This record gives sequence, structure tokens and C-alpha cells, in this order.
Amino acid sequence: MRFFIDTANLDQIREAMDLGILDGVTTNPSLMAKEGIRGEENIRKHYVAICEIVDGDVSAEVIATDYEGIIREGEALAALHPQVVVKVPMIREGVKAIRAFHSKGIRTNCTLVFSPGQAILAAKAGATYVSPFIGRLDDVSTDGVELIARIVDIYRYYDLPTQVLAASIRHSMHIVDCAEAGADVVTCPLDPILGLLKHPLTDIGLEKFLADHRKSQQ
Ligand code: G3P
Repeated sequence: MRFFIDTANLDQIREAMDLGILDGVTTNPSLMAKEGIRGEENIRKHYVAICEIVDGDVSAEVIATDYEGIIREGEALAALHPQVVVKVPMIREGVKAIRAFHSKGIRTNCTLVFSPGQAILAAKAGATYVSPFIGRLDDVSTDGVELIARIVDIYRYYDLPTQVLAASIRHSMHIVDCAEAGADVVTCPLDPILGLLKHPLTDIGLEKFLADHRKSQQ
């Protein structure tokens, strides 16, 4: 399972890269706004800056919701850097655009996916990635991880090449659950990734090893 970081914050991307476990980045308009990135030129520069830090795919989302607009924006984003994957919402015009991007060799990430039916459509259209939002499903008392498992089963059954990118991850256990469910990729903020490091028995065990070593050297 690959690890993407879900942020537009360059310091956090660098920190995850430094840990040596980062395979890519996903962003969305809310995450870009959170970093205060304003204006088309600055947004473009920021995507290029992210691509220069990370060695892997970088999802950049279109704002347009009409077919022509999605195509225009998506082509401009894809032209920025070979690592850019065009993120397209799961709407009628988006599905049409994903099909068109697929036939032009432009890679896509179909976002805002909340059901197996939407995931089937995204794969039929030729999306490179599908992004089911598991945290937002959990928020409305629906099992987000179960959706990941169902999509993985469907894609495996038909040998579909679309990769399942579990998104809207809120905590470390989501990452473990997604791994068990067979997700190809998880994208999450830095904290849930760092949470995987933690176990009190590791800390207690290390403290004892070091104390025993110190005693043996006296
Ligand atoms: O990038 C899409 C997704 O990961 C958003 O997560 O926490 O806003 O539901 P969240």
C-alpha cells in the first residue's frame, strides 16, 4: 500500500519525505485555500513546488464543473509537470471528462466518491485513481472502510486497473483498516502517519534496553 500525504503544506510534505515513506501528494481546493494560495499563477507555482519536493504522483483538482471547463483546466494542470494527476469530481460532466482525459493519456483521480456505484462509473470512464472519502462517511454513521473493501472486491473481480485511493482519513487506525481492506493507496494528513509509530511497549522496551546497556558498561 502506498502512502500519499493529503496537504498543500510544503513543510509537512518535506517532513513526510524526510521520513522516507512518502509516495505522493493529494490536494484539494480547501487545502490550497488553507495555505493561503491565491490566484491562478500562484496556484500553478505551488503545484510545481510540490512536484519538486515529492517523488510521486501529485493530485491537482479542477474547479470547473462544466465539461469544457474541466477539460481546459485539466489540460493546463497536466501540462505543469509529468507528476500531476488531474483530480476531477464524481459528477456527470466529470465522468465524461475522465473518459476524454483517459483517451489523451492524461491521468486522473476521481474525487468525492461515496458509493460502490460511483466507483464503478469512475473505473468504466478510465480513472487512474478513485478517491472514496471514508472519514466523511463515518461522520454520517456509515462505515467508510467497508466502502473501501467493497470497491476493492469489485475492481479485483473484474480486474479493473483503477487504483483505490482511500481519502478523508482521520486517524491511524483508518490507515491500518484500509490496508486490511486492500486499498492501493491511503492519503492522509501527517499526524495519522506519525501515529503509526507509537506504542507504549516500544518506549518501555527501548528504555529498558538502554538502561541495561548503561548498567553493563559501569
Ligand atoms: O482530499 C480529500 C479528502 O482527503 C478530504 O478529507 O478530512 O476534508 O474529509 P477531509
